[in-house]
Amino acid sequence: MTKIIDPWGAELPEDYTKIVKDFGLQQFDKADFPNPNRLMRRGVVFAGRDLNVIAKAIHEKKPFYALTGIMPSNDQIHLGNKSVVEMLRYFQDHGAQTFILVADLECAATRGVSIEEGRKRALEFHIPAYIALGLDPKKTTVYFQSQNMDVVNLGYMFAQKITLNEFKAIYGQADPGRIMAAVTQAGDILFPQLANRMPGIIPVGIDQDPHLRLTRDIVARTKAMKFVAPSSIYHKYMPSLDGDLKMSKSKPDYAISLPEDISAVKKKIMKALTGGRSTLEEQRRLGAEVDKDMVFELLKQHLVEDDDELQQIYDDYKSGKMLSGELKHLACEKMENFMNDFNSKLEKARKNMDKVLILSFENHI
Ligand code: TRP
Repeated sequence: MTKIIDPWGAELPEDYTKIVKDFGLQQFDKADFPNPNRLMRRGVVFAGRDLNVIAKAIHEKKPFYALTGIMPSNDQIHLGNKSVVEMLRYFQDHGAQTFILVADLECAATRGVSIEEGRKRALEFHIPAYIALGLDPKKTTVYFQSQNMDVVNLGYMFAQKITLNEFKAIYGQADPGRIMAAVTQAGDILFPQLANRMPGIIPVGIDQDPHLRLTRDIVARTKAMKFVAPSSIYHKYMPSLDGDLKMSKSKPDYAISLPEDISAVKKKIMKALTGGRSTLEEQRRLGAEVDKDMVFELLKQHLVEDDDELQQIYDDYKSGKMLSGELKHLACEKMENFMNDFNSKLEKARKNMDKVLILSFENHI
């Protein structure tokens, strides 16, 4: 039986090829997109749905949108969020109208965070953090689920289009809060189309695919609404630094948060799982097992922008010229630069919050 991907759980896929097959995803091909970014070039982005629709909109300069949701569940984000923002930024740079919604209703329903608290965290931290990671505040539209009656109304309408059994087949479980959150999320994903029916792309971790399937089923069942089925693009997880493929945020000792005290981050890097050999002599002779190395993975996914530089590191490490300790020190240094840069951009973004378009609605709670 196909394993169900649970968007609320921490269990994670080990074999991405199998996932592509089991879930009928489309393999990502960087040749389809102009100027692919680091994540696209390095296979971190690996699959999607209806990617050709978005590639076409980009090539023909037709309207499309890119959208993501923020869960304001605490005052930190993680490297997976950074990947989402980098993908949004890519599409924003290639003509997408960009939307960020604060999933305050979902956060209240599934994490017990009050609407008020969620709002505060989003304004003080999450939205500035997303801007600090590269979004253009002037080109990004933000809304709060709890204030957007269009989204809530869409959710109600969509709730009539699915059965409990279908819901269970997609999610593996069905409790009232999650059902509400899922139909609301379908409302989010289609909301930009109320103004203009157009393709949209949702960059997410693979765990969110059930929501995309649900939304696409709903589109097929509400033909009269003439929604365009949403496209999606999936990135791999940054594995936990101990090598565990489960979502990194579930293991705080081996996951890096943003922001995080740099000395704590360095400690995590120093005890990460590497592909180093058991003795110095072996490491020089055989070279490292780079593909098993979490520090290299961190450099590849997040810290080295230049492909030639990464290739050089790979070659030196693989040949035994570079040792695991040296790789770790390199990662620490790059991480420190990244964190400093992030922190100063975050401060700046906080001061620029008035440039962000936050949709306001009549219906405040
Ligand atoms: N469920 C998402 C999460 O757990 C948040 C979310 C709500 C979302 N609506 C969305 C993500 C629409 C993408 C698109 O993080």
